[in-house]
Amino acid sequence: MDAQSGERAVELAVDIGHLSHRFGEGETQVRALSNIDLQIRRGEVIILMGPSGSGKTTLLTLIGCLRSVQTGSVKLLGQELNGASELTLMAMRRRLGFIFQAHNLHKSLTALQNVRMGLEVHGESGLRDWRDACEQALRLVNLGNRLEFLPEKLSGGQKQRVAVARALVGNPDVVFADEPTAALDRENGRLVVDLFRNLADQRQTTVLIVTHDHRIMDVADRILKMEEGRIVEDLAVDAAVLAAEGGAMPST
Ligand SMILES: Nc1ncnc2c1ncn2[C@@H]1O[C@H](COP(=O)(O)OP(=O)(O)O)[C@@H](O)[C@H]1O
Ligand SMILES: [Mg+2]
Repeated sequence: MDAQSGERAVELAVDIGHLSHRFGEGETQVRALSNIDLQIRRGEVIILMGPSGSGKTTLLTLIGCLRSVQTGSVKLLGQELNGASELTLMAMRRRLGFIFQAHNLHKSLTALQNVRMGLEVHGESGLRDWRDACEQALRLVNLGNRLEFLPEKLSGGQKQRVAVARALVGNPDVVFADEPTAALDRENGRLVVDLFRNLADQRQTTVLIVTHDHRIMDVADRILKMEEGRIVEDLAVDAAVLAAEGGAMPST
């Protein structure tokens, strides 16, 4: 690797070239992604929009090492994922944080223990101050007074915030969030996206958010719009906000 491409690899969190993805075979085959090119710098906050079925989740799960790359190149934090071994993918996943729509909390574990699961996948279960780290993560999402609560005693929005704390406690390099504010009121939605923004600014954390929530568009550096497996718009947020004010920003 020459010096220039080395620098580029460090600077880019995600570097995608000619990425396509299909599901199924023959007549029932669905082309979920068509020839995507995309570069995302470290510390960028990206919002991904687009109608249902446009390929947002497929793109997120490919970058997040949750499914195998079929065609094209996905470089995550400098590592090529196409053809990577399961061991490599596992090692990469430890550097990532996931917040998905179904928050998948363990019913029999308290909020604090659920957040601890986010440390265990990072191989840091022996960390002496795990309790401090988990408590702090829960305090950051305004749940410092719910540490010992089981999920059944928490509201939908509170469970969602436990999932956010679990995703962030291991200090991931890249955070993937699929509709993270859908279950949250305005105040808590703002709290969560402000957390993302601070991590991006202070730790160079890269954040990819799938959302339709217009209240949080301002948190992003860029807004990508997908349609039928392609990225059809890639707007710096200033331009996107101006377009929205002019009424030109699509509502999906
Ligand atoms: N596991 C799967 N098996 C078959 N088709 C799928 C699967 N996952 C997604 N698809 C199809 O791929 C396309 C993109 O889906 P998806 O990435 O989930 O879109 P979005 O997240 O934007 O709603 C859709 O046509 C969807 O039906
Ligand atoms: Mg989806």
